Amino acid sequence: MPPPRIVRTVKALRSAVQKWRAAGESVALVPTMGALHDGHLTLVSLARRKADWAVVSIFVNPTQFGPTEDLSRYPRDEAGDARKLGAAGTDLIWAPAAEEMYPDGFATTIVPKGAALPLEGEFRPHHFAGVATVCTKLFSQVTPDAAIFGEKDYQQLCVIRQTVADLNLPVKIVAAPTSRDRDGLARSSRNAYLTADEREAAPALNRALKGIAAIAAKGGLINKAIDVATHDLLQAGFTKVDYLTVRDAETLAPFEAKAGRPGRVLGAAWLGTTRLIDNIAV
Ligand code: PAF
Repeated sequence: MPPPRIVRTVKALRSAVQKWRAAGESVALVPTMGALHDGHLTLVSLARRKADWAVVSIFVNPTQFGPTEDLSRYPRDEAGDARKLGAAGTDLIWAPAAEEMYPDGFATTIVPKGAALPLEGEFRPHHFAGVATVCTKLFSQVTPDAAIFGEKDYQQLCVIRQTVADLNLPVKIVAAPTSRDRDGLARSSRNAYLTADEREAAPALNRALKGIAAIAAKGGLINKAIDVATHDLLQAGFTKVDYLTVRDAETLAPFEAKAGRPGRVLGAAWLGTTRLIDNIAV
């Protein structure tokens, strides 16, 4: 299939989507920052199943990166992304420049609390305001019936659900299971940063989460399981553990086995200069 049409202005985007809407057809959006891997492409197939038209946005959103984070080295490959998206059956790519998304004088930010406060919110204080703001803009630009988010960024998914509910945004949020390499490593554009040795060590993060989930599921001692998992990660070559934790799967409040609600194990840890995150259900 030929690469899909790439639109770069809100005006061109609206005119394309309005034609579909006028014909009574539905639209699904897959928001991305590009550097697409197979995980993203599974989100595109889900989008195609959910709606008549699949739009993929590619925008490396500067406002969700902290001042010392990897914005300048974040991988970019628009031509490669467009080829992959064509093969995956994407109908339109929405790839605005930063000035189109944030024109001079831009002055409105959505600051989510609740699910945005712990975990990533503590380590990356401005991250979710950037994510919630750009996603709200993407929803208002594309006006999708559904938007597809991977469970890989589980806290992001919770925050987006919260934003959509709080602001009554007319979009259905669809979650897609995390796509993994054969050794369990969650697919992520940031895996491209890993050296060969780091790539070999990386699946230890998923193993650590599985160990904690097994103990939590049995009502065992979660803090002890976290200590063991932290030790195992450092032994495997991880250089720092930001957090390993078990949370309520919806609110991300601390998990209480007795409450009988679903739990989620989440972790973030560093391999050299690369920070990896992952999560699994209890
Ligand atoms: O998950 C991502 O790639 C980004 O956080 C998103 C949702 C595209 C917003 O920039």
